[in-house]
Amino acid sequence: MKVTVIGGAGYVGGELLRLLLQHPAVDEVVATSRSQAGRELASVHPQLTLLSDARFSGDDPVDAARGRDVVFLALEHGESTRIMGDVLDAGPGMVVDLAADFRIHDGRLHERHYGPHAAPALVHRFRYGLADVVGDELRGARAIAAPGCFATAAQLALWVIADLPLAAPPVIFAVTGSSGAGQAPKPTTHHPARAHNLFAYGAMSHRHEGEILEQWRTWRGDPAARARLMTHSGPFVRGIHATLHAHLDASANVHADGVAELVRSRVADRPFLRVLDAPPELTHVVGSNLALLHAVASPDRREVQVMCVLDNLIKGAGGQAIQAMNLALGLDERAGLLAPGPMPC
Ligand SMILES: NC(=O)c1ccc[n+]([C@@H]2O[C@H](COP(=O)([O-])OP(=O)(O)OC[C@H]3O[C@@H](n4cnc5c(N)ncnc54)[C@H](OP(=O)(O)O)[C@@H]3O)[C@@H](O)[C@H]2O)c1
Repeated sequence: MKVTVIGGAGYVGGELLRLLLQHPAVDEVVATSRSQAGRELASVHPQLTLLSDARFSGDDPVDAARGRDVVFLALEHGESTRIMGDVLDAGPGMVVDLAADFRIHDGRLHERHYGPHAAPALVHRFRYGLADVVGDELRGARAIAAPGCFATAAQLALWVIADLPLAAPPVIFAVTGSSGAGQAPKPTTHHPARAHNLFAYGAMSHRHEGEILEQWRTWRGDPAARARLMTHSGPFVRGIHATLHAHLDASANVHADGVAELVRSRVADRPFLRVLDAPPELTHVVGSNLALLHAVASPDRREVQVMCVLDNLIKGAGGQAIQAMNLALGLDERAGLLAPGPMPC
């Protein structure tokens, strides 16, 4: 397959390239960049040194998409919307967008979190690529919107309890590493501001709540269902740690072992999800496409907690996007994604 990464110079682009250059079904990888055109990939992404001596292309997105089997876009928010019509018209076999631009089908939800959509007619061409949940239903998709990193962790925790009767909307407390904010340094992502610090942001309105709510409402069969994401910046580079807390309806009557069993059965055939008997640790997933979960109910059977950890740049971005591509093309879902992360890290 011939694959292009548009916006290959960012953090997500770099991890996409690392995985695609080792993917068994990918023969040719081209990366474009406005800022790095002509430079070697490895001069921007040193982790690619042993994998490629290619250079960034400065082709515009339409030329970069024409004749390609799969095109990934890893651009800043809004940029995908601006160019997507032309990219789709160029006729690549498949488009996978890593930004938030095409994740939400409900126009009002999108507008609440991102403002009015600049290309609303294109939104319904995209399938939401929450690969571990959607699975084989992605088969044949030609346009995929890959979920956000916080959104993936939150939704995996929500999905495993989606069938339980709840007394109140669940709350997800989540902490992200600094790479979640992309390559350009900002006052809140700069090392001195993050290295020995922990702080909340996006209170009551984090943008990823839009895509989380859209899926949660579908799973619950309730267009008014709610869930709250509480986002925090943590003093580490990679990963997301999410803890969901929910009050169970009295009718649930599930004991601690019952919740763990329910969650295990939910993920039984999903190759990148594992349920642990104890709370998972971030370093156990960093560098891999694995997501670890743990679920427990309180002794009085009225509360449940689910923890989920994942690597924001792999399971929360490039890895999940490739998993979605594999599923859409009918390849082995695991192709190119089984490498474990380093340990210790
Ligand atoms: N970071 C995450 O954990 C994560 C997870 C899931 C989804 N996403 C989404 O994926 C998209 C890309 O995210 P990202 O974290 O990769 O953003 P990023 O690092 O800011 O990169 C995005 C683009 O910005 C340009 N850029 C900005 N600063 C640069 C620098 N110092 N060196 C080289 N290029 C630079 C590059 O494009 P040009 O060279 O063409 O200017 C690059 O492709 C976003 O829409 C984001 O919301 C991110």
